[in-house]
Amino acid sequence: MVSVPGRVNLIGEHIDYHNLPVFPMAIQRRIRIAVHPRADRLIRVTSSGEYGDREFEWTPRLEPAAAGDWINYAKAAAQAVGDRWGLRKGIDAAVASDLPAAAGLSSSSALLTGLTLALLRANGVVTTFAQLMEVLPEAEHFVGTRGGGMDHAAVLASAPGCALLVRFAPMSVEDVRIPAGWSFLIAHSLTTAEKSGEIRAEYNFRRTAGTRALATLGLASYRAAVEQHPFQELQAMARKRLQDPELGPFLHVTGEAARVLEAVQAMRNGDAEEFGRLLNTSHESARDLLRISCPALDELVEAARNAGALGARLTGAGFGGCAVVFCRETERPAIRARLMDSFYSRRNGFDPDIHLIDAEPSAGALIE
Ligand code: GLA
Repeated sequence: MVSVPGRVNLIGEHIDYHNLPVFPMAIQRRIRIAVHPRADRLIRVTSSGEYGDREFEWTPRLEPAAAGDWINYAKAAAQAVGDRWGLRKGIDAAVASDLPAAAGLSSSSALLTGLTLALLRANGVVTTFAQLMEVLPEAEHFVGTRGGGMDHAAVLASAPGCALLVRFAPMSVEDVRIPAGWSFLIAHSLTTAEKSGEIRAEYNFRRTAGTRALATLGLASYRAAVEQHPFQELQAMARKRLQDPELGPFLHVTGEAARVLEAVQAMRNGDAEEFGRLLNTSHESARDLLRISCPALDELVEAARNAGALGARLTGAGFGGCAVVFCRETERPAIRARLMDSFYSRRNGFDPDIHLIDAEPSAGALIE
């Protein structure tokens, strides 16, 4: 059995691909894969849900199937394992999941990671976290997305009861214990963020605009920028020399980088008010500077704050999907009830099991 959780990002949005630290946590909802090695190189995957069964024969340089076909996750996993470690044995695998798909909870990275671990085990290959992090974000590109490494790090290395401070280049992770009495809800905006087509183009646009901004300012990287210049100086320099569409992303990325470190400190200090304030500021920055929110997400975040949350913000790639809602544990049932009333009661298609989840900080696949 391989079991991989979903994740929710607490703070640090659209900055992992600029190699800046982010602060997600794994959640209790998971993808589980029962796996059996085969003598040949056939890879057969069956799903308990509505996705149907798939199979293919492993050969070097696999061709992707049609965009959106879930077999591409198995192909991406097989390609990654085959290229890096060699693949002698295929698998019979059965996938079951209670992690909602296309909700910004990393179900796609969890599936890719799970199938990769399944193939590694079947082939008797033992890997380290660092080696997995060298191949997984890259393998995701086979499926057509161009994200960073946050999701894979969170679903592999999170510890129960903790959030995970993820740093890049060099890759490192650090557990930060979530103080007793702090809790999180994941609330869906009921607008879907498919990371394909137009949304993918929007996501990539933010990434390239952020990179162009650096070039215009003559800065080598965001890491160098935030390490070598005080935040105020960077913002002043940007406002003088950049225009949109580069200015907004630059201001968001540099501001968000500072907020991640402040949020980690606030969590370590047990300062819930400050942590909540940082989540709220992060949402405003994502909405106004990076422009990755949408009306339903803004309304949801507002409704969560009115319901008594200490902080709320969109989480994940944006353009729909979920918000993360931070509150006192004792308040969570009341906030949930108020959100059902103020936000969900006026909308169609709400399923509390999928759209309003109590998020429990859980173990990543390597920690379990
Ligand atoms: C997606 C990507 C991540 C990250 C977030 C935005 O979830 O997969 O790597 O870039 O968007 O923070």
